[in-house]
Amino acid sequence: MAGLWLGLVWQKLLLWGAASALSLAGASLVLSLLQRVASYARKWQQMRPIPTVARAYPLVGHALLMKPDGREFFQQIIEYTEEYRHMPLLKLWVGPVPMVALYNAENVEVILTSSKQIDKSSMYKFLEPWLGLGLLTSTGNKWRSRRKMLTPTFHFTILEDFLDIMNEQANILVKKLEKHINQEAFNCFFYITLCALDIICETAMGKNIGAQSNDDSEYVRAVYRMSEMIFRRIKMPWLWLDLWYLMFKEGWEHKKSLQILHTFTNSVIAERANEMNANEDCRGDGRGSAPSKNKRRAFLDLLLSVTDDEGNRLSHEDIREEVDTFMFEGHDTTAAAINWSLYLLGSNPEVQKKVDHELDDVFGQKFAVMEEKTILSCILRHFWIESNQKREELGLEGQLILRPSNGIWIKLKRRNADER
Ligand code: HEM
Repeated sequence: MAGLWLGLVWQKLLLWGAASALSLAGASLVLSLLQRVASYARKWQQMRPIPTVARAYPLVGHALLMKPDGREFFQQIIEYTEEYRHMPLLKLWVGPVPMVALYNAENVEVILTSSKQIDKSSMYKFLEPWLGLGLLTSTGNKWRSRRKMLTPTFHFTILEDFLDIMNEQANILVKKLEKHINQEAFNCFFYITLCALDIICETAMGKNIGAQSNDDSEYVRAVYRMSEMIFRRIKMPWLWLDLWYLMFKEGWEHKKSLQILHTFTNSVIAERANEMNANEDCRGDGRGSAPSKNKRRAFLDLLLSVTDDEGNRLSHEDIREEVDTFMFEGHDTTAAAINWSLYLLGSNPEVQKKVDHELDDVFGQKFAVMEEKTILSCILRHFWIESNQKREELGLEGQLILRPSNGIWIKLKRRNADER
């Protein structure tokens, strides 16, 4: 009898416990929801005086107004900045997140020269699954100490080591372009992009992936697709929640691409670290951290050997963040800049002639400038370029970089003395 009574009391206690736990969870959920709503309302109120482009709706903000197509989106941005040129700044609600756009030089300068305003926009969190908290995405002390450690790796004498790689890849590009001499106009955009990809892979990781000879590399495709997906996701607040994103095909593709990207960089880092350890063991003098002589030095080697003020090395995770950051930052940007330069040179023959005279000049100090000058000068030493599109035919598309959605169509002629 006492046992039955105890059982009943136990059951009641269990039920009571479960009900309390459920109401506690429910209450904290409601509380956190209320906090979010309150913070949203506060921000809405604070941002009220800032001019905006059109009426923003609660929660979705201006998201439905933003053109999903990259070309239309870029046009839209141009039109807004033209229309609101007289305003100091502009507000846009991307879903529940307010964004402030600065577009005149004086205002932008205040932010760019500030040593305090170094936090990135909340939209950068969509880069974090791939890039972690590397130089581009980090802030505060983490960014400062990383920057201090890594700035020397951008020194000109180190970048000079990369000139051979840039020249080698630019020459492969020129060979590929040769077949277009005196032919119809063709789209040169992807030729240049693949060249820039080969250069960043070899300079950042010391890995020759041969993208120019094999444009079907799984890693290269993942780099490309990932950049596209990140940009699309930023514009679509309904894809922001990670779990929800995974319900979509693109969410799965994002996950798969991420796996390909990280597996590749992790394996390159491990391989390179083992090589360096083996070299150190061989030398036995404790100083040898450079790779073997016949292997070129890459950013990765520098990352594997740099230390902070306390003499600590970067972990493999830290290194992967930086290598992935260089891969993301270091190819689309330069490829686009080279393509735009080709287009402009091909549209302005008198400027092309002037550049021709400068081809032997000393190169600039930074990676991007060095790469652009190497590739451009290598192309210009071999060919005369004629652009085949009017500006309005380019299909300017605002993605992470400004991209010509119709490609860059050029005609090539062999450059010879008569044409100069
Ligand atoms: C024409 C070529 C390039 C352009 C226009 C360009 C543009 C930019 C811009 C605007 C930023 C600031 C982004 C931000 O803070 O939100 C940035 C940061 C960065 N870029 Fe580039 N970039 C180019 C080439 C490169 C190359 C070739 C590399 C690597 C080899 C590179 C590596 C980085 C890194 C690591 C950062 C983060 C730096 C930091 O915050 O300390 N970039 N770039």
